[in-house]
Amino acid sequence: MATEAVTMDKIVSLCRRRGFVFPSSEIYGGLGSTYDYGHYGVLLKNNIRSRWFEAMVRDRDDIVAIDSAIILHPRVWEASGHVEGFTDPLVDCRTCKLRFRADKLDDAQCGRKPSKHPGGTPECDLTEARQFNLMFETSVGPIQDAGSRAFLRPETAQGIFINFKNVLQLARRRPPFGIAQVGKSFRNEITPGNFLFRVREFEQMEMEYFVPPAEAERWYRYWIDERVGWYLRYGLRQSHVRVREHTPEERSHYSQGTSDIEYLYPIGWSELEGVANRGDYDLTRHTEFSTTKLEYVGPDGERYTPYVVEPAVSIERIFVAMLVDAYDEEEVAGRQRTVLRLHPQMAPVVAAVLPLIGRDDGLVGKARGLYEELRRRHVVEYDDNGAIGRRYRRQDEIGTPWAFTIDEQTLADDTVTVRDRDSLAQERLAIGGVHAWLDDALARGWKTPRGE
Ligand code: GAP
Repeated sequence: MATEAVTMDKIVSLCRRRGFVFPSSEIYGGLGSTYDYGHYGVLLKNNIRSRWFEAMVRDRDDIVAIDSAIILHPRVWEASGHVEGFTDPLVDCRTCKLRFRADKLDDAQCGRKPSKHPGGTPECDLTEARQFNLMFETSVGPIQDAGSRAFLRPETAQGIFINFKNVLQLARRRPPFGIAQVGKSFRNEITPGNFLFRVREFEQMEMEYFVPPAEAERWYRYWIDERVGWYLRYGLRQSHVRVREHTPEERSHYSQGTSDIEYLYPIGWSELEGVANRGDYDLTRHTEFSTTKLEYVGPDGERYTPYVVEPAVSIERIFVAMLVDAYDEEEVAGRQRTVLRLHPQMAPVVAAVLPLIGRDDGLVGKARGLYEELRRRHVVEYDDNGAIGRRYRRQDEIGTPWAFTIDEQTLADDTVTVRDRDSLAQERLAIGGVHAWLDDALARGWKTPRGE
C-alpha cells in the first residue's frame, strides 16, 4: 500500500494543507513549537478525547471523572515534588546562543554545524549544566510578591489526588476505583519539537486508579494491557506499538514501576503513553503537607493508603501517532492519491455527501436532504464544488471513510452510491437506508488495510 516511509514533514504538510494544525501566532512571525488547531484538527482531537473517555469512564462502573483547576495552591507542587525535582539539566552554548538539554546532547544539533552535536566542534563553548525547573510560573492577584507565586499545572494528576477525599466520600467509591481527568498541562520544555510530539502546552488524559497495595502490581499489568488494546482497537498497527519497561534508574521519583507504551514515530520508537505504579507516594505526601488524612477506611474499620496506578498520555502524542499510522500514498488509475486511513470512529468527518453535478438543482436538493438527515447524528460534510474526482481526493486526504454520491439514477430510483475510502469499492444503497447503513458501518470493527 504505502509507497514510501512516512516522514514528519509529510504529516506537517498535510496538516497545514488541509487545515488540521497551523503554526501559532503566524501573523506575528510564529511562536516556536506552538500550534493552533483548525477545524479538522479540532474534530480529530474531539474524537480522540471521546474514545478515551468512553473507554475510561463511560463504559466502566469503577471510574469517575473530575475537572480540576489549572492553577492550584502552590503547596500542591511542593508536596508533589515538582518544585524541587521537576527539572531538566540545561546547558547554554556561548557561541551559538542556543540551549540544550545536557542529558540529550547526542540527539541535538550544533547551532553552527548541524552535522555535529553541541560540544562537537572547537568553536562550541558550553556552560556547566544547571537544573532548570519546567513549571511555568505566574502570579495570582494584582501584586507580584512571594505570596502570589503560583504555577500552571505540569500534569493533571495532582488535581486528582487533592480531590481523593471528596470523591471517596461523595461518589461513594471503594478501592479499586479510578478518577479520570482531561485537560491542559504546561511545561517549559527546553527542547520542544518534532511537531506536536513535544510542546509546551498540551492536553493530557490521565487516570489515577486507587487500589489496595497488595493488588498494585496486578493492576499495573492490567492497565498496560488495557491501554495497548485501546490503541490496537483504534487502528494502530501492532508492529508499530510496543511496551518498554523503565529501568529503576530511569523511573520518576514517585514510581515503583513504569512502562512506556511506545509508538514507532518517524523519529524512532518514542513514548506515546506512560503507565506507572506510583505507590502511595502522592496520597502520603499530600496527607503530610495538607494535614488532611487521605486514606481509605473500610466498613469494618480497616484503613490503608491506597496505591495508585496511572495511565497518562497527551492527545497530541496520539494525534501524531494516528496520523502517521494512517498516512498512505498510492497510485490509482495512473494518479497519485494521498489518503488518511483513520479508524472511522477517529476520522474528523464520517461521511461526505456529494451531488455528482453541483449545478443540477435536482441532485443538489436530494443531496442536501440526505446531508441534513445525517448531520443530526454525525459529523458529515456536504460538497458540491468542483469535479467529483477532486472532491473524493479532498475527502481522502482528511480521512473521510465514506462518500455518498447522488446522481441521475438517484432521481429515478432513490438510490445513492457509497464509496469506500480504503478499498475504493462502490455499492448502491436506497437513500432511505443510508442513515442505518452508516450507523452499522461505524459500529463494525475496523482494521487498517496497511497490515499488522
Ligand atoms: N502524571 C504523570 C505524567 O505526567 P509524563 O510521562 O511526564 O507523566 C505523561 O507525561 C504523558 O504526557 C506522556 O506519556 C506524553 O503522552 C504526554 N506528554 C508529556 N510531556 C509532553 C509534551 N511536552 N508534549 C506533548 N505531550 C507530552
